[in-house]
Amino acid sequence: MLQPKLKSKVRCTDRDIGEVTKVILDPLSHEISHIVVSMNGSGERQIEMAQVQDVMEDRVELRAPASAIAALPLFQRHDYVTTHEVEISHLEDNIDVTPGEVLVPFPDLEKDVKRRTFFMNFTHVIAFLIGLPMAYPILRFLMKPMYMPFDNDWLMVGNVSKIKQDDVGVQFQYMKKVKEAYMPEAEVEKSVWVLKASPEVLDKVYQDKDQEFRDASGRIIWINKKDFPYIAFSGKCPHLGCAFKWRQHKTLGQVFLCPCHLSIYDATGSVLDGPAPRALDALPIRVSAGGDVEIIDMEFKAGVKSQIRII
Ligand code: FES
Repeated sequence: MLQPKLKSKVRCTDRDIGEVTKVILDPLSHEISHIVVSMNGSGERQIEMAQVQDVMEDRVELRAPASAIAALPLFQRHDYVTTHEVEISHLEDNIDVTPGEVLVPFPDLEKDVKRRTFFMNFTHVIAFLIGLPMAYPILRFLMKPMYMPFDNDWLMVGNVSKIKQDDVGVQFQYMKKVKEAYMPEAEVEKSVWVLKASPEVLDKVYQDKDQEFRDASGRIIWINKKDFPYIAFSGKCPHLGCAFKWRQHKTLGQVFLCPCHLSIYDATGSVLDGPAPRALDALPIRVSAGGDVEIIDMEFKAGVKSQIRII
């Protein structure tokens, strides 16, 4: 007798009932033990080969009437796996159907998988608890940089005598010791732009409110008073962190211009043009009686609308 093929029409003693959608293999004999028939919209039934009367090129004939096949329980796909899932595809060597549609009964040992999974997970939890005291110091060392407090020390960057005109950006450069994660400490050159602001610029920057700066715990570390005439902007463009300059623009007059993607900001730090998602980042600033300018060096996440401190 030929082997039943996938998509072969299936006919009972009285009428056609559907087509073969799967075959089930006996893993011991390597013979087809059942066919699975999709019954024209009323689900799949698993039919023993003993019920098969004849197999032709494109048709399978059964010994039973359609009512007897319809009375069989619905095929339970989860009781089977494909020969590929159990990695025993050579089982298909003797049969002539599309690979991947050949099923074998789910191994009995695997049926209790929930219980076995529970014991496996339980073993993992025990192993985790035993290993935790040993791993803790290593984890603490690795995670330390993530929880280092921000550096809120004041840095002297220059003297206000360098500023000759109101509302004009003046760059102050300074060196800062930086410790990146597990790297040794290094000194890097940084810059900040300072303006002596006119009352109009101060109004636009502060909008009648003092500006508060907080540490990681939310504690206020400094307040820039709304009527204090000096403003410091971080030297990093809020778009992607490039250094920007104070430049004369053809139509906009004097502006901060970032050469990387051409973001333009006015003297208040507001975005006039370009892809920058927010205004320039103002920093805490104070000026001593002798005119020394001090700032708290802060960095904020680039490319986002809100100001999120990262350093
Ligand atoms: S980094 Fe300044 S505009 Fe892109």
